[in-house]
Amino acid sequence: MVKEPVRVLVTGAAGQIGYALVPMIARGVMLGADQPVILHMLDIPPAAEALNGVKMELVDAAFPLLKGVVATTDVVEACTGVNVAVMVGGFPRKEGMERKDVMSKNVSIYKSQASALEQHAAPNCKVLVVANPANTNALILKEFAPSIPAKNITCLTRLDHNRALGQISEKLNVQVSDVKNVIIWGNHSSSQYPDVNHATVMTPSGEKPVRELVKDDAWLNGEFITTVQQRGAAIIKARKLSSALSAASAACDHIRDWVLGTPEGTWVSMGVYSDGSYNAPAGVIYSFPVTCKNGEWTIVQGLAIDEFSRKKLDLTGQELTEEKELAYSCLS
Ligand code: NAD
Ligand code: LMR
Repeated sequence: MVKEPVRVLVTGAAGQIGYALVPMIARGVMLGADQPVILHMLDIPPAAEALNGVKMELVDAAFPLLKGVVATTDVVEACTGVNVAVMVGGFPRKEGMERKDVMSKNVSIYKSQASALEQHAAPNCKVLVVANPANTNALILKEFAPSIPAKNITCLTRLDHNRALGQISEKLNVQVSDVKNVIIWGNHSSSQYPDVNHATVMTPSGEKPVRELVKDDAWLNGEFITTVQQRGAAIIKARKLSSALSAASAACDHIRDWVLGTPEGTWVSMGVYSDGSYNAPAGVIYSFPVTCKNGEWTIVQGLAIDEFSRKKLDLTGQELTEEKELAYSCLS
């Protein structure tokens, strides 16, 4: 049976993540190879011509799954009827800037787009915020769209999760697909805590803990963590632009697993509205290990947290609490 098309909004679609992301969505990377899509692309008036160019390329690519394209600078038209919203639009961090520097530019955008989504998106629309500060933009979106269930509003930490998998795979010289269950805790910022204490690698003699295979706690507790924490900044330094293809790919991974489910025995990291699990601050968008089934995420419970990890979970939680206060001060 042919499926009804799913409407997917990408804001900031004329930007560099947008340019990498829309063809992935149109090829079925996000929602599956049998799922038709209608793309809604939003950008601001100065980018309207470029946005139209992206639309022309989507037509030229003749994607069989792509059943329509809405390219607009009108936020209401963009949000109308969307089932999935990927919020990439905003002001990106440049070399030398901390995420907090871009806060005031972005939270006001997220406040106004919250209302448009609340009023015009399809019921049960799933929202993924990519634009930085991603956790706090998502929180502002949630606070100013009170009728959208909090569980439907998430932010992207899957890129950090994938970066952690990539580092372990390189260190051990194993396939990245054989590494699983790393965790990104907290903020999508340099305070995030990439945790390998529960991560495993599939080997010819079965699944083995990453710590047992790496045999180098100094590296796992030091360079590994800082490399993942600082990877976004390293990409900016190298490209003079922030990560785009890896961010677009991670956004597809995030939505795909949320909608279609995580494989048995595997969790992923998602920024979700915190209920205070693992003594993280409640009421912020905090990255946790989650499993997904039937379109719903659930925080993995009961994982042991050692003293080293506890301090790192608290530190990144503290930063999110501070960002929340700063965001509100920018809006008042
Ligand atoms: P970009 O500057 O190339 O694109 C951003 C686009 O957003 C531009 O086309 C701009 O015109 C548009 N825009 C600005 N204000 C808008 C608004 N009010 N409504 C709709 N569109 C608007 O930036 P990029 O490299 O694509 O990055 C986008 C965002 O994603 C940045 O905030 C960046 O820091 C963030 N990012 C997050 C992650 C993550 O893992 N969470 C990873 C990489 C980048
Ligand atoms: C990234 O992680 O690549 C992005 O969030 C870019 C940034 O601002 O660090």
